[in-house]
Amino acid sequence: MATKRIGILTSGGDCAGLNAALRAVVHRAIRNYGWRVFGIRDGSMGLMERPLDFVEFDLSLVTGDMLRLGGTILGTINKGDPFHYPMPDGTFRDRSSEFVEGYRELGIEALVVIGGDGSMRILNQLCRQGGIPMVGIPKTIDNDVAQTDYAIGFSTALDVAGEAIDRLAPTAASHHRVMILEVMGRDVGHIAINAGVAGGADVILIPELPYTLEGIANKIDDVRAEGRNHALMVVAEGCRTETGESITKVQSGGEARYGGIGQYLGARLADLVDAETRVTVLGHVQRGGVPSMRDRVIASAFGVHAVDLISSGRLGRVVAWQHGQVVDVPITDVANITRAVDPFGTLAQTARGLGIYIGEMPA
Ligand code: F6P
Repeated sequence: MATKRIGILTSGGDCAGLNAALRAVVHRAIRNYGWRVFGIRDGSMGLMERPLDFVEFDLSLVTGDMLRLGGTILGTINKGDPFHYPMPDGTFRDRSSEFVEGYRELGIEALVVIGGDGSMRILNQLCRQGGIPMVGIPKTIDNDVAQTDYAIGFSTALDVAGEAIDRLAPTAASHHRVMILEVMGRDVGHIAINAGVAGGADVILIPELPYTLEGIANKIDDVRAEGRNHALMVVAEGCRTETGESITKVQSGGEARYGGIGQYLGARLADLVDAETRVTVLGHVQRGGVPSMRDRVIASAFGVHAVDLISSGRLGRVVAWQHGQVVDVPITDVANITRAVDPFGTLAQTARGLGIYIGEMPA
């Protein structure tokens, strides 16, 4: 009987722990099942290039050093949807059939996709079109993939944001300042609320909850009344201004990204609270670096389980972390669904219980 061949790719923004997941997939597939594993470069691009752009893994390529390595050795892209592929002349083309043909040319029988909710939607659509068996592994620092408590990369990003608050606190105290830390997270506030609680912030703003400038100013007044002359504030990049506008910038490559709400609030608050404000934008630092131990463990468990799903013919599923266990759910329960911070969940209630201003109660 011919040896089974599977493919694996990383898609969307990179994060810490992707290489640990690749390593786990390769180990499980080769050691346990004797399969061949092909790593597809640059997300879906590797199957659209001619010649195809891939590497065949063997165990010598996936040593323990992969656990310690940030980014993805396969490369990734977070634009270039094959159904709506941006061409150099500014037009868009449907290149989905090139992806499917590439899959056939490589001669693989299933695809492991490591991606966020957006990548899951696109890859699921591609795989359905081409009759390609697929399993998914969730990753994103934003931690907004539905059905899973943790996506690969979140834990490391949280550690980075928490360390930033630890570093800002003493300088805030020394200069009697209001220090504002803007963190990533796209449309959700998981990094902000977790880092803010862990770092002892006085104010945490997340896109899921409305706030008022007055509410922030009142909290800073309370802090002063308690005898402290400095304050720490964490704001998620996806928060809007108090009048509802989101702050974005068009980046090179032509796509808009969040960024700037921290500066905006810093300027508004400086007058309102009569204090010096300083703003730190953490940016892509949260995506890089050495993966946390938790990300390595989650990525390893996800990788092993994903291969077992293929082996048992349970396809069209995504692995997930629920209540300390790895489970799997249908991809349709995950694709393009955003898991927001629950305004009445444990984290929000904990923050309120600690006296942190996290905005107004939703209507
Ligand atoms: O989705 C991950 C993420 O890092 C978001 O938190 C952030 O808004 C976005 O990607 C940044 O994208 P890019 O790397 O294209 O600037």
